Amino acid sequence: MSPHIDAATPHPFLGGTPKRLLIGGQWRPAASGRTFDTHNPASGARLAAVAEGDAADVDAAVQAARAAFEGPWSRFKPDERQALLLRLADVVEAHHDELAWLDTLDMGAPLRHTRGSRRHLVGLLRWFAGQATALYGQTAQTSLNGDMFAATLKEPVGVVGSIIPWNGPLWATVFKVAPVLATGCTLVLKPSEEAPLAPLRFAELALQAGVPEGVINVVTGFGRGAGAALAAHAGVDKVSFTGSVATGQAIVRASAGNLKRLSLELGGKSPHILFDDADIAAAARAAAMGVFANAGQICSAGTRVYVQRRIHDAVVDAMAEVARSLHVGDGLDPVTDIGPLVSGPQMQKVLDYMAGARDERARLVAGGERLTGPAHRHGHFVAPTVFADVHDPMRIAREEIFGPVAAVMPFDDLDEVVRRANASPYGLGAGVWTRDVGRAHAIARRLQAGSVWVNCYNQMDPSMPFGGVKLSGYGRESGLQHLDEYLHVKGLWIQAT
Ligand code: NAI
Ligand code: MG
Repeated sequence: MSPHIDAATPHPFLGGTPKRLLIGGQWRPAASGRTFDTHNPASGARLAAVAEGDAADVDAAVQAARAAFEGPWSRFKPDERQALLLRLADVVEAHHDELAWLDTLDMGAPLRHTRGSRRHLVGLLRWFAGQATALYGQTAQTSLNGDMFAATLKEPVGVVGSIIPWNGPLWATVFKVAPVLATGCTLVLKPSEEAPLAPLRFAELALQAGVPEGVINVVTGFGRGAGAALAAHAGVDKVSFTGSVATGQAIVRASAGNLKRLSLELGGKSPHILFDDADIAAAARAAAMGVFANAGQICSAGTRVYVQRRIHDAVVDAMAEVARSLHVGDGLDPVTDIGPLVSGPQMQKVLDYMAGARDERARLVAGGERLTGPAHRHGHFVAPTVFADVHDPMRIAREEIFGPVAAVMPFDDLDEVVRRANASPYGLGAGVWTRDVGRAHAIARRLQAGSVWVNCYNQMDPSMPFGGVKLSGYGRESGLQHLDEYLHVKGLWIQAT
């Protein structure tokens, strides 16, 4: 258990001198000397100044990562990388409350939510520890003449640049670090300018756990500076990106110079489909929380809620009831269910979508506004919102809002709902509620999505892959597929003489 995790107590990690970049095991200011401030979106309070890295710092970090990749780190045996991951898991477990608290301060999610990631994230590090000693190539039976030995070797891709968003900084950091350590790659991490604190503290803890210098480097800064430089750097072998589609597309273009490998975990407009034989109360609650959790700032939020006509009105009422019952407030308050949006611009974007939905004549059933009472007026709070009578062409039914806004639409039969669910440029998650096992199997196969959840939503486990199709990106995180994203396959041919 970490000390100093209540709001009132000063914390050694906050305030004081500006947070620095981690390059080659050294904490240093940006080459330019510039810094930027990060804020608490619940109160507007300035939390810390952070180094504003740019192309020069990215270049230094990439060089440090290259030196580590070719140096002592390359001689680490799988069981040594495993031991390191296990030590890191222990350190993260011991400090998880503190890391969760930093995320809550920096991006607003309730402590209940950020603390809730302990089991999964520590489990993920231990799961990858297991994988470090379980990397296999294959031998092939070729049809060639003579005595040919043909085999595949798996080798680390090299220096990885990871660019992460603000909606789950600690999550994203663990997802980017674990496969790097398991496979023997090295990392330059570019946290979000909105929420860099937990990733920086995580990096301190990684050094404490014994991660060698240069294996994990952290360059804080903005997308147009540090992010773009990392995406374009010729010394980076792979970029792993989580964030918006537009930035993902910019990264694809930037990768062309050296054809670096990419994995992209982008946005979504995931369908959540409720058939009329479902457990209505459980399905409605899941549909509501599938949108409202983390104030809607989840890539796989199930924001298109399709409800079979017979239960439509009951589900709308139940979702509105959930929306009104949620406590929206400062994430540090233990009773808070839903925190603020991460920033003023993000809040404005969500409010604009709400206004647009009214203009397009969707029916507002709950929420629909900014909260401005005494507990809310200094933060970026919006009410959990349900719109009914939504039609597929409306913007709130098509575009990723990244706020707590549900669009509820009736449907009549399976073929129709499959067609409408798939008529989206995205394909990240999909939810289905039905007690009919045959229907569950049939629809799960027909939905275009990286994950389908039946009678549950947003489930994740280290053993299972997560990722998208279409504009939701490519590549998988978590699960065995995650490792392959960080490995090259080399074919080895040896002719017996
Ligand atoms: P973003 O995609 O611009 O930012 C994510 C990360 O990319 C940050 O670290 C940022 O500094 C970096 N970045 C920005 N421009 C870059 C560039 N040209 N090259 C390299 N790196 C760059 O997302 P942003 O601006 O924070 O949010 C905008 C919208 O994106 C949100 O309203 C939401 O709809 C969506 N979004 C989706 C996420 C998801 O997980 N699906 C996560 C974050 C945002
Ligand atoms: Mg912040």
